[in-house]
Amino acid sequence: MYTRRKFFRDSLIGGILAGNADFWLKNAPYLSKPDKDALPVAIATWGPNVKATAAAWEVLAAGGRALDAVEAGTRVPEADPEDTSVGYGGFPDRDGHVTLDACIMDEFGNAGSVSFLEHIMHPISVARLVMEKTPHVMLSGEGALQFALERGFKQENLLTDTARAAWEEWKMKAEYKPKINVERHDTIGMVAIDMKHRIAGACTTSGMAFKMRGRVGDSPILGAGMFVDNEVGGAAATGLGEMVLRTLGSFLVVEEMRRGAHPQKAVETAVKRIARKYPEQSKENQVGFIALDKKGRHGAFGIHQGFNYALYQRGENKVFEAGSLLGK
Ligand code: GLY
Repeated sequence: MYTRRKFFRDSLIGGILAGNADFWLKNAPYLSKPDKDALPVAIATWGPNVKATAAAWEVLAAGGRALDAVEAGTRVPEADPEDTSVGYGGFPDRDGHVTLDACIMDEFGNAGSVSFLEHIMHPISVARLVMEKTPHVMLSGEGALQFALERGFKQENLLTDTARAAWEEWKMKAEYKPKINVERHDTIGMVAIDMKHRIAGACTTSGMAFKMRGRVGDSPILGAGMFVDNEVGGAAATGLGEMVLRTLGSFLVVEEMRRGAHPQKAVETAVKRIARKYPEQSKENQVGFIALDKKGRHGAFGIHQGFNYALYQRGENKVFEAGSLLGK
């Protein structure tokens, strides 16, 4: 007998195959028609990245694609020599090499990533070309550099005098100890939704200062440093990558939203999970998440106080303090 249950199942499959957005809006419990004014929107980890959300907004306000917005946004700190944790000017590893990690994801679930990339100012744009121009998702080290050079990127010295001086000073003691909220910025993770409800995410970093040579953090790993699912929303992480890698934190946030959680609840769940699993490391290290759901609602939360974020929505670009698990 063709029961109501089978009818619903077949309709659901039909809806999925047809990619019918209205169908999803009616039938998926975690979706509803977005508040029209909530979109477009761009969110980024850390207050100084208001410059990044401003660049993303230019694309979004002109009716552009979220993917272009997150690429344009994250290129801002990548090129900023004052930002010592992303791209040009990033602090080097313990041997004095600036090594970069980045990933990007579009509304179709396509993804690209580079890790342990040297000498290229815009790893996020290399990651995008990995996504668009290769059959792969991730390129690393020498191979990523070779690919970038073949695609016309310029080979550059990314170690600034400031970063070199910080490294020289670090070498005096050579203590391998990350600091919480150093200069109140770290990795940039960004999620945006455009006027056509397309969602994209990007994440880029020079990683932990004075790390071991070859160390790769969470930022280029899809599901760890960043993850988006166009049916649900997106999330990105900042802080000590090792703790995010072990928990696939951004994926966890998106899956919590898929189960119906508000983005704020979803980021709190991920932070609490990390703190419960790694209580000792959590005392000394920061991890923070930002999240956006398809309705344009957002969340942000860190283990420790001091994590902030930039949000461009309803024509206003603002910095907000995120809540924290451990408070003052
Ligand atoms: N979250 C950046 C890193 O740990 O490399």
